[in-house]
Amino acid sequence: MAINPRQDREKGLHDRLIELFRNFHQHPELSFQEGKTASFISGSLRDLGFRVTEKIGQTGIVAVLEGKKPGPVIALRADMDALPIEEETGLSYGSRIEGRMHACGHDVHMTCALGAAMILSKETNEMKGSLVLIFQPAEEINLGAKAMIEDGLFEKFSIDMIFGLHNQPDIPSGKIALREGGLMAAVDRIEISITGKGGHGGVPHRNIDPIVATGSVIMNLQSIVSRNVNPIDAAVISLGTLQGGTANNVIPDRIEMTGTVRTFEPEVRNMMEPQIRQVVENSAAAFGCRGILNYIYQLPAVMNPPEPTRIVHTAASKVVGENNVVDPTPSTGGEDFSLFQEKVAGCFFWLGVGNPDKGAVHPWHSPKFTIDEDALIIGAKVLAETVRQAMEQLS
Ligand code: NI
Repeated sequence: MAINPRQDREKGLHDRLIELFRNFHQHPELSFQEGKTASFISGSLRDLGFRVTEKIGQTGIVAVLEGKKPGPVIALRADMDALPIEEETGLSYGSRIEGRMHACGHDVHMTCALGAAMILSKETNEMKGSLVLIFQPAEEINLGAKAMIEDGLFEKFSIDMIFGLHNQPDIPSGKIALREGGLMAAVDRIEISITGKGGHGGVPHRNIDPIVATGSVIMNLQSIVSRNVNPIDAAVISLGTLQGGTANNVIPDRIEMTGTVRTFEPEVRNMMEPQIRQVVENSAAAFGCRGILNYIYQLPAVMNPPEPTRIVHTAASKVVGENNVVDPTPSTGGEDFSLFQEKVAGCFFWLGVGNPDKGAVHPWHSPKFTIDEDALIIGAKVLAETVRQAMEQLS
């Protein structure tokens, strides 16, 4: 049988990536505790010839590979943290740490970025510019990108363009999902308190009942999305906690609630705080109560500008064929990659990892979340090709 060296190399990379992925999957670490993961990655990148800087944003890593030819600085970002979830996949390579699991597939992202590093480390003679690999901690708690930026990521490394991917079990393995504009939502936190005057439940006329006022606030909040947001745009206001009261026959002084607000377009995001404040204050006031809103801006939306999106489109088309580059429905989940996009042009896209034949059907953060491992080499190749295309186009 004839030996095809190219096929052989591909098989080697495919097997190596699965091995890396399973190793990451077995050893999940929580946000800002990714020490073992980070030191493994640092060692691997040094072996590939990268200059590695550790502890940027606590456990974050930045690694640089310089090409022999002049050109732009192109960054790839992967996140490293796992979740406090007890794995229920039954996989032979399931988590070895109780109560922790790579249930959002950040093990996929690390594997694909390392795969791209392996591919590109063999091409430095031809490479026009430098590759910067960013391994970010604590994406799950929305603090990792912020920590790296505050630690001087963009001052220490003059990055021209940044790219990143997230696995997506809703998209079949073999496909890349990519769109210009909003891909993942802006995420904000709301804290609301409604204060009245507590007293005996049998004599409501002597008190000011914050519970009835709260009912009105809750219902009126839902009218913002239906009455104030342009119906063509998307927005979500969800309350997640509601606390107050101590006894069935006592009207409490105060009710407290927290919630999440998701939007895409900046103008929709900007109207949320004043609209919610108006509803909270005035609905409460209609019952003689005092409503107070604390609006906490957490993450902007992942918004892909045209130029880097075109670059990924070209790269992905080369790897999986243009027919397999699909336009997805955006997600109302958030991603702190958006903070990097506020600093430099960049594109974030989804790697299809779904495959019903292999049981890869469960969503992010499910204890049964799994992926089709055949997608790993696709992710690595698309990232590597994206870097090549970006270097070519920005040179
Ligand atoms: Ni994630």
